[in-house]
Amino acid sequence: MELKNNRDNEVDSWTEVNLIYNAALRQIQTKMEILNDEFQHVHRYNPIEHIKARIKTPESIVKKLKRNGYESTISNMIDYVNDIAGIRIICSFTSDIFRIAEMIAEMKDIKVVSVKDYITYPKPSGYKSYHMLVTVPVYLSDRTVETKVEIQIRTVAMDFWASLEHKMHYKFEGDAPEHIKEELIECAKLVADLDDRMLTLNEEILAMSGEKEEA
Ligand code: GTP
Ligand code: MG
Repeated sequence: MELKNNRDNEVDSWTEVNLIYNAALRQIQTKMEILNDEFQHVHRYNPIEHIKARIKTPESIVKKLKRNGYESTISNMIDYVNDIAGIRIICSFTSDIFRIAEMIAEMKDIKVVSVKDYITYPKPSGYKSYHMLVTVPVYLSDRTVETKVEIQIRTVAMDFWASLEHKMHYKFEGDAPEHIKEELIECAKLVADLDDRMLTLNEEILAMSGEKEEA
């Protein structure tokens, strides 16, 4: 674990945790915005529709630690809660997801810790998204802290679905009626089909406008 913790008196307060994770989050957000601007400049196209960034609330961090059987200490937060800083990148097309993930992985100062590809392998619930756990260096006055950020990359349609599914979980606390779960699985299939068709359509439109420009 590269992040210093209170065992050696480094990151020792919630205020400091907040400061460092906020800095990490802002760096990733800026990198993504620059990528998008540059893409617009070179390819006349924005792969990113929008970006949502959030720091997990202390209540939610403590709840997660408790759920996983850890005491609520700063050191445990840093070691065991990987999504204190979270960023969600919403794209138009499935192909953009992989393109962005590749570009993130190639950034010199970002280290990819792990990847979960729920696009290729959706969850049984129907959940689709591409998750990357990365670290980014945060330069402080006296040291550098490699800080974890969870990146979720998904399409607008996947995001729409995930929001509703999340709402269902929240509402029924994991005990949702069978017919609602089934309907959501059905909707996930529609979302996947919609994403496929929109991608194909977009490629067709691009090919046709290319022909037009050549003519
Ligand atoms: P958490 O303990 O929930 O953070 O999950 P994990 O450590 O097993 O990691 P995973 O990559 O599976 O999930 C991380 C995050 O992805 C979650 O906190 C959610 O934001 C999102 N997520 C994962 N699975 C689902 C799902 O089935 N539905 C929805 N709506 N979101 C999900
Ligand atoms: Mg989470």
